[in-house]
Amino acid sequence: MTALLELKDVSRQFGGVAALSGVSLSLREKSVTGLIGPNGSGKTTLMNVISGVDNPSAGHVLLDGAAVSGLPANILARRGIARTFQHIRLIPDLTATQNVALALHEPETRLLNILLRLPGMRRSDRQRGELAFALLERVGVGRHARTAAGDLSYGDRRRVEIARALASNPRLLLLDEPAAGMTHSERTALRDLIAQLPPLGVAVLLVEHDMDLVMGVCDVIHVLNQGRLIASGRPEQIRSDPHVIEAYLGAEDA
Ligand SMILES: Nc1ncnc2c1ncn2[C@@H]1O[C@H](COP(=O)(O)OP(=O)(O)O)[C@@H](O)[C@H]1O
Ligand SMILES: [Mg+2]
Repeated sequence: MTALLELKDVSRQFGGVAALSGVSLSLREKSVTGLIGPNGSGKTTLMNVISGVDNPSAGHVLLDGAAVSGLPANILARRGIARTFQHIRLIPDLTATQNVALALHEPETRLLNILLRLPGMRRSDRQRGELAFALLERVGVGRHARTAAGDLSYGDRRRVEIARALASNPRLLLLDEPAAGMTHSERTALRDLIAQLPPLGVAVLLVEHDMDLVMGVCDVIHVLNQGRLIASGRPEQIRSDPHVIEAYLGAEDA
């Protein structure tokens, strides 16, 4: 079976810094995959390379078995790759609804209809605002729909970013530290939301330092250290892997 996404020997150099070195991994359709590792280990660089924000210095990225490395982010977004950013990128002067509505470009509404439990509907301009609002409600920030994004709390901005990413109807959603700045109950809601996505046809790649969240929601976890993949496996294997404990988990527990 062809993987949804495959990285083959991907490297990314920044001058003398090897942010990624020979990383090979594949993501299955309808799975939640974790990507963990210490700060500076290359997690965001990997997401940049997958989403077309950045290009590999060597190696290949394949989507549905076809090479996509070098394609720009807007083309990859249309082919089903959506993301949030570690450093939030909303338009601060626009409301939460307007930020999400901007991303509602796909004619295909299946995911949104199911996610929001709406009957089949055609997307008119008038409906974009309603759909954006429904997505905001779904991620728990409906009450802030008319608030300027720049006036929202950090955790709420993160949720608006997720709503915006879902608005493009992705098959692969890349989440870069989505729980940062969230309260405990917001994290629980985030976990429930992530767990709901694979059955709807959305695979998730989750970069996160909250190990309860990662271990609780991921099917498979990959571990980066200094740009290299040092372990891949199920959560229980990763938790007890001595290399992972030494490079990352041990420091987290200390
Ligand atoms: N645009 C860039 N220019 C130069 N160095 C970069 C750039 N982006 C990332 N790096 C470097 O690459 C390494 C990996 O960074 P990053 O992917 O952001 O790690 P992580 O997300 O795991 O914290 C770090 O050493 C970082 O300083
Ligand atoms: Mg990062």
